Amino acid sequence: MKILITGASGFIGSNLLPYLTEHEILTIDNKPSNSPNFNLIDITNYDALVKCFKDFSPDLVIHLAALISVGESEKEPEKYYLHNLQGTANVLQAMLQVNCKKIIFSSTAALYGNNDSKKALCENDTSQPQSVYGETKQYCEELLKNYYIIFNFNIVIFRFFNAAGGMDHHQVQMHLIPIILQSIKNKKQFNIFGNDYPTGDGTCVRDYIHVHDLNNAIVLAIDYLHKNQGLHIFNLGSNTGYSVHNIISKCQAITGQKLDINIAARRPGDPAYLLADASKAHEILKWQASKSIDDIIRDTWNEL
Ligand code: UFG
Repeated sequence: MKILITGASGFIGSNLLPYLTEHEILTIDNKPSNSPNFNLIDITNYDALVKCFKDFSPDLVIHLAALISVGESEKEPEKYYLHNLQGTANVLQAMLQVNCKKIIFSSTAALYGNNDSKKALCENDTSQPQSVYGETKQYCEELLKNYYIIFNFNIVIFRFFNAAGGMDHHQVQMHLIPIILQSIKNKKQFNIFGNDYPTGDGTCVRDYIHVHDLNNAIVLAIDYLHKNQGLHIFNLGSNTGYSVHNIISKCQAITGQKLDINIAARRPGDPAYLLADASKAHEILKWQASKSIDDIIRDTWNEL
């Protein structure tokens, strides 16, 4: 199958290619990549995108390109609307130009938002994004639903929980586990964003999932879309929650080093709990998370 991947230089995209060796791949990103058949294209550049789609004529698109930081999206919302929403609209329009109607889309747990309950989230739970990032992904999902209804697209939407298990080598680290490990390594103080949440120890609880497991899910979705039509939404997480304090303890235990901690103000846009009920992905795709939180921390530490 001919597969076009957007966001090839990002955290998930840069780990994905070894899983897709039986396919013909073209990758794009607005940041350089060593991956074969790579094109330096920004998805906000519609003309360049259409030319690339026409030259390659993909059967399926894996659309991973996006800005992904909750904190940054609150400070620079316009960037998030441009790249996430306008960028996704461009990708879908470019697909129409070459009559490609299969897409796997990376969405996020951040669209559930406002969640102070320990209950694991199901795909049909209400979405109420608390951050601009979550909002832009919710709008993208709405757009995809319209392409399914109006143009008969076949779609898998993955709502990724907290992807981890390595570094994003293209940017300053913005996620909890790499930031903690870098702080340990460089002996820098680490800020906990709020310890007054309604959780067991007052810090936010998240569901961390190894990029290896996410990429396995993408492989299963390619096969699923080959055999099935329609629009399918799946949570991807482990249904196990770890607070910021839990993650700090594990990082200290695994590295054998102490972290210097400061309690800082809450970060706008953070829900207290985000926990995945991923039973739908298990039942339908036969997917489940295989890597533990210790694997995630060890693999990230080894990449520092
Ligand atoms: N945190 C700190 N200090 C830091 C960094 C993070 O206390 O220096 C806290 C955050 O406040 C949050 C938790 O650690 O409570 C996790 O923060 P991350 O920034 O690592 O991850 P988020 O949960 O905010 O968001 C991530 C991705 C999104 C994805 C979401 C899904 O950035 O793309 O997980 O749950 F949608």
